[in-house]
Amino acid sequence: MSLDISTLRQRLQQALGDEFTVGDLLGEGGFAAVFRAREHRPRRDVAVKVVDLGLTPSPSLAVRFVREARTVARLEHPHIVPIYKVGGYQNEVLYIVMRCVDGPSLRQLLEKKRRLSVRKSATIARQVADALGYAHHYGVVHRDVKPDNILLDAGGHVLVTDFGIAQAAQEASGTQLTTEGMVVGTPQYMSPEQATGDKLDARSDIYSLGVLLYQMLAGEPPFDGDSAQAILMKQATADPTPVREHRSDVPAPLATVVARMLTKDPAERYQTAEEASAALVEAVPAATGETVQVRGSFPSRLIKSLMGLVFLAGAGLVAFTLLGAPPPLSVNAPIPDSVAQALRHRGVLATGDVAQYVFAPAGAEDTTLLVVARWTMAVVTPHRVRAYPRDAVQVGFSPALRGGLRFRLVLGLPRGRQDTVFRRLSFRDLYAVVPRLQNLLGKDAGSSAGPVRRP
Ligand SMILES: Nc1ncnc2c1ncn2[C@@H]1O[C@H](COP(=O)(O)OP(=O)(O)OP(=O)(O)O)[C@@H](O)[C@H]1O
Ligand SMILES: [Mg+2]
Repeated sequence: MSLDISTLRQRLQQALGDEFTVGDLLGEGGFAAVFRAREHRPRRDVAVKVVDLGLTPSPSLAVRFVREARTVARLEHPHIVPIYKVGGYQNEVLYIVMRCVDGPSLRQLLEKKRRLSVRKSATIARQVADALGYAHHYGVVHRDVKPDNILLDAGGHVLVTDFGIAQAAQEASGTQLTTEGMVVGTPQYMSPEQATGDKLDARSDIYSLGVLLYQMLAGEPPFDGDSAQAILMKQATADPTPVREHRSDVPAPLATVVARMLTKDPAERYQTAEEASAALVEAVPAATGETVQVRGSFPSRLIKSLMGLVFLAGAGLVAFTLLGAPPPLSVNAPIPDSVAQALRHRGVLATGDVAQYVFAPAGAEDTTLLVVARWTMAVVTPHRVRAYPRDAVQVGFSPALRGGLRFRLVLGLPRGRQDTVFRRLSFRDLYAVVPRLQNLLGKDAGSSAGPVRRP
């Protein structure tokens, strides 16, 4: 970048005029800087990405950048960072005003944790896949899917940013017109067709998503090396180490999804991001979750502080420890379309049936999903769906005495049969699921005396 940050901030302030007040620098990437700004009407904080056009700006490329950014600005999806405004100023700077996402990027999360849980990894990947599927439908290929471009808001929703504009911005700022052999992009996340400079399409993004998922699970991307060229060579020719060799608790179906996303030949990958999304949910049913925990959610913070008080009173140590785990997944109607579709795809929902509640506990059992639909109650695991007519099922809980304070959730079925759904629910899981089931099935559900009859 040819301008220093304070000059860039001044230029940006001039460009934006008095509708905005430019604030702190949020971060810098390869060809742009991102500032926080205060918009005065409506009153809100926004993030402004500013590209310094450098000493030799190319007006035609700048026009192209603005055109592409405006195309992207039309994308409206819950997992895409919304763009509010795009513009340029006297051939000096280009800017994009977008929603300020006040959470960590996936890169920051991975720097802190290195690996994420199976459920969190699959959930993030599924939300990214849904965003990509939507953009692909509108002819926009991202081309730069990597952890820096995946942001998480304070509520734990995943938001993908920088759709399709990296190349246009790099061209407009002249970055790409450099010495032969210089690589534009981040080699670790580039598809084989990107690495070799071939024509690419939406399936290239599916490969990059595979890299992202591999890294979340394994703690490192499939290919690394001392130079960009060495990494690109591996992207094009080397076989990745199977993800389960890094981490044996990755369910086999999920490892299969990762491997398929990472095939060299685009024709052997999932052909659409929707297919990839459905495969993720099939492998890890809890990937349907709409949020991932970034920091404690409000109820869990509330419980934690209450428990902290109990702890101070000398009686809360056990409960506090139990509550330290990630929170369960608990989604009420209206269930998001992507989730309903995935459930339909797995045969959980018959035509006309509507999901009303989806639950997965935290921890070891978090690949099992309990679904309450209008007519059906279903237990969804990576390998099977056990579905029952809702009217014929009674729900009960009982303490599971082995291994600390845990609870069992059991479905009582006709002719005295039972289906144990979860064996080791924590107190926090119980706190999430009982009120919902009581609401849906009647007050008796959630009794601690084994399966109970609903009124
Ligand atoms: N909408 C946003 N809200 C809040 N912070 C953001 C937003 N967009 C970007 N950032 C922050 O600004 C930083 C720089 O973003 P930028 O897109 O310029 O670079 P990058 O994605 O890290 O790399 P590259 O230049 O290769 O795209 C990001 O790492 C992120 O922390
Ligand atoms: Mg970015």
